[in-house]
Amino acid sequence: MTSTVRTQVAIVGAGPAGLILSHLLAQSGIESVILDRRSREEIESTIRAGILEQDTVDLLASIPGSRAHTVGSRHDGIELRFDGVGHRIDFAGLVSRSVWLYPQHEALKDLLAARLAAGQDIRFRATAHAVEDIDSERPRIVARDDAGAELDVEADFVVGADGSRSVVRSALSGSHAGYFREYPFGWFGILTEAPPSADELIYSNSPDGFALISQRSETVQRMYFQCDPHMDADSMNDQQIWETLDRRVPGVELKKGPIFQKGVVPFRSFVARDLQRGRIAIVGDAAHTVPPTGAKGMNLAVADVVVLARALEALLGRSDSGPIDSFADEARKRIWKAQHFSWWMTSMLHQIPDASEYDRLRQLGELRSVVDSEHGRAYLAEAYTGWPMDLGAAIGSAAPASSAADLLTRRAS
Ligand code: PHB
Repeated sequence: MTSTVRTQVAIVGAGPAGLILSHLLAQSGIESVILDRRSREEIESTIRAGILEQDTVDLLASIPGSRAHTVGSRHDGIELRFDGVGHRIDFAGLVSRSVWLYPQHEALKDLLAARLAAGQDIRFRATAHAVEDIDSERPRIVARDDAGAELDVEADFVVGADGSRSVVRSALSGSHAGYFREYPFGWFGILTEAPPSADELIYSNSPDGFALISQRSETVQRMYFQCDPHMDADSMNDQQIWETLDRRVPGVELKKGPIFQKGVVPFRSFVARDLQRGRIAIVGDAAHTVPPTGAKGMNLAVADVVVLARALEALLGRSDSGPIDSFADEARKRIWKAQHFSWWMTSMLHQIPDASEYDRLRQLGELRSVVDSEHGRAYLAEAYTGWPMDLGAAIGSAAPASSAADLLTRRAS
């Protein structure tokens, strides 16, 4: 028995991109159905990065029930460390913008609760296998529901927000069609029960390799260090991990505690060749991947969705196909800026295996030319806090005027 569901927009993936898209569409009176192969608990416990750009946090905070501004914390700068000395990049002073540290899984809990409270149709443990009728006006997702029964979702538009192994991307253009870059290293990440070692994030370039000191709360800290992407996280004990981190952040006394989670993240850069075809589009990790050094992953997904929501509102609300025809070109501008920034932060801060002494000294020259120049620091600050997303158009068109004003007041405060 196949059950068929009809909706305006079928979204594969209940991560930040899919959930925020459904919210923006609902604000424009457009109905959607979301499928995700994971359970709600699995989605809420996926550990990912925690830095939200200024516009990302403004958008999240405009969604009822968001704890981004209460549980999250504002960061007005970061520290770049090299040659044993720290250099502050003062975001607030340089570009009058900030970022917020708010773990992605907490943002997901807020988003799922808000969407379910609003009556959003979310099918958990429903696995999409294929997209059919892709060049028609009614594309269709072929899926299996949580009981293993066949489920077809017929829609006016299909969106793949289904991560790096996207089924929708395969339907669009073949799963590997795109531009790739591999890196000969990854990050070893830990969560430790300890107080913060610093007020702001520390990005440290040391002769021994890169390390990042990040945070989660007053009692839990997140730290990473550059490693072989193929290494087994269990091959290092706590003492070896702390010795590595201490060597990589010289001059900072790291507060240590029990390590209760560890894992290795490989680094890749990827941009899919095609982002849209007819009535199908892909967003977020389905469309692109960045190494985590610039914390752009989730922010880029949100930016895609802001552009796509506007295009779908025009297409489905006013039969205007102009914005969807230019969606890919519009999204690509920011995607490639973020690709560059993430690659640049990565290559400037990590030790590249087999680098010569020349390469190493040039890299220090590069870091110095950033921190010694107000323009260099301002470029980093502008990119890190995020290029403007034109949220007024995305939120303001459907939201009461007071909420747009509220966003402006919040930004100014
Ligand atoms: C994190 O806290 O997980 C984090 C922060 C900054 C990054 C990457 C990850 O650049």
